[in-house]
Amino acid sequence: MSKPGKGIRNGLTNYGDPRFAAYLRRSFASSMGYSRTMLEKPVIGITWTASGFNNCHRNVPELVEAVKRGVLASGGLPLDFPVTSLGEVFLNPTSMVFRNLMAMDVEEMVRAQPMDAVVLVGGCDKTLPALVMGAASAGKPAIVLSTGPMMTSRYQGERLGACTDCRRFWGRYRAGELNDRQIDAVEGALATTAGTCAVMGTASSMAIMLEVMGLMLPGTAAIPAVHADRLRAAETTGVAAMGLVSSGTTIRETVTQASIDNALKTLLAIGGSTNAIIHLAAIAGRLGLKVDLQALNAMSDATPVLVDLKPTGDAYMEDFFYAGGVGALLKRLGDHLDLSARTVTGETLAELVPDDDAWVDDKIIRPTETPIRADGGLVALFGNLAPKGAILKRAAADERLFEKTGRAVVFEGLKDLSERIDDPDLEVTEDDILVLKNAGPKAAGMPEAGYLPIPAKLARKGVKDMLRISDARMSGTAYGTIVLHISPESAAGGPLALVRNGDLIRISVRERRLDLLVDEAELAKRDPTPAPPAETRGWLGLYNKHVLQAEDGCDLDFLVGESHQ
Ligand code: FES
Repeated sequence: MSKPGKGIRNGLTNYGDPRFAAYLRRSFASSMGYSRTMLEKPVIGITWTASGFNNCHRNVPELVEAVKRGVLASGGLPLDFPVTSLGEVFLNPTSMVFRNLMAMDVEEMVRAQPMDAVVLVGGCDKTLPALVMGAASAGKPAIVLSTGPMMTSRYQGERLGACTDCRRFWGRYRAGELNDRQIDAVEGALATTAGTCAVMGTASSMAIMLEVMGLMLPGTAAIPAVHADRLRAAETTGVAAMGLVSSGTTIRETVTQASIDNALKTLLAIGGSTNAIIHLAAIAGRLGLKVDLQALNAMSDATPVLVDLKPTGDAYMEDFFYAGGVGALLKRLGDHLDLSARTVTGETLAELVPDDDAWVDDKIIRPTETPIRADGGLVALFGNLAPKGAILKRAAADERLFEKTGRAVVFEGLKDLSERIDDPDLEVTEDDILVLKNAGPKAAGMPEAGYLPIPAKLARKGVKDMLRISDARMSGTAYGTIVLHISPESAAGGPLALVRNGDLIRISVRERRLDLLVDEAELAKRDPTPAPPAETRGWLGLYNKHVLQAEDGCDLDFLVGESHQ
């Protein structure tokens, strides 16, 4: 139903006299130089996530200007407002503990301030999920504009981009293949433009999923951050936000279980980030929907990997953009998706699939007949070591390690890992399984520590991959045979806390199993590794008390669902 925007009169400040509140608000808004005519228009809020601590958002100021153009041209009043900005590599202990803080900030500021609709501008890993979680709970009409990915660069003629190549070169440096001068030169060449990581990491996985969920304009997720098309997309997003004022369409109305399932299948087909499962579960939780890991496995059996991007393939996000982007992916993946799902503009996905004669670069976005692999990029494992599930990005792993029983080499926590992983006396062989405890959401804020380094003495012998398991996460740009998100985590009473050095662990990707081969009687005798002391004050105190496990998206228990204010 068409609803006129209430504009600046939305949600008046409570003085017990609404007419006084409206008068005072107009007066103070006038002090910013707005005419009475402008103050009568619908208001579009625009999140300002530029920050000196967020390189990925360097282009936010010009994107916001372009959004404003679109809003003004469509008869609205655009007002930007600051919200938390999360620059992935600038946050201690890890950005993940601040995603929910940002989501709370967004929810409350979207709800509390007088806006008829909001444009959610963001990109770096945790920001898109936080923006969508917050706006979903706030319940106002919303549309997403991502900052877009970085362009690639060159080192000695070799193309490279953040951040799969960051890890690849660091691995070579640890193995003694690069000297200090060379790694310094690589450091200066990895990230050279504005935008999010240049590969199919978490930021790009989330942007693509949100486009498939209909929350951003079609064709916009993959546009490079510095391309003029992104500014044009920003302007059009401003126009579309004005359309939301009359339609009143909220995220809750756009996103259904079909949209969530479409996003999961898309994630499988792009060989996307393990983190995206957690973020999608959190978004679903805000909407009364579910990411079911058993259902994920069924989808993974039937969904091919079609996109040849790092870290599972060879190319970069700019190649995906020039190959046809999400539209081309919809065309290739169409039969696997529910194309009746709606988008923020009211169109169905079916209406967004390009014509049959639209060009697609087959090398980057493969036809379903010649996929990168016939099944999906991610798989959930269950067993006595992961009763509520664990995740393996099989598309970025070594299949020779998929069916294996090995001896556990245990690290009790992050400090223990950093102190002993390169110890020349560490008893470890390449056939062992590296186990990290106390790196889950409660214990450590679930840092991207699941990509345990290969012990230096093995790396120097040329060992490139080992089976590594933990309750941590890993960067979407990382690769290797890495089992993550074990739930319940060690610090929440999970069986991972009982594993000891030398125990045998069995993985079977074929059977979707992860088991500790120690009998129940022996386990009953063991004391679990204690959880690290938890912070009790401030944000971390609130976080520690209320954070949920990975399968529930690591949201806070009291944030699940919609705002009732
Ligand atoms: Fe921002 Fe990778 S560091 S997206």
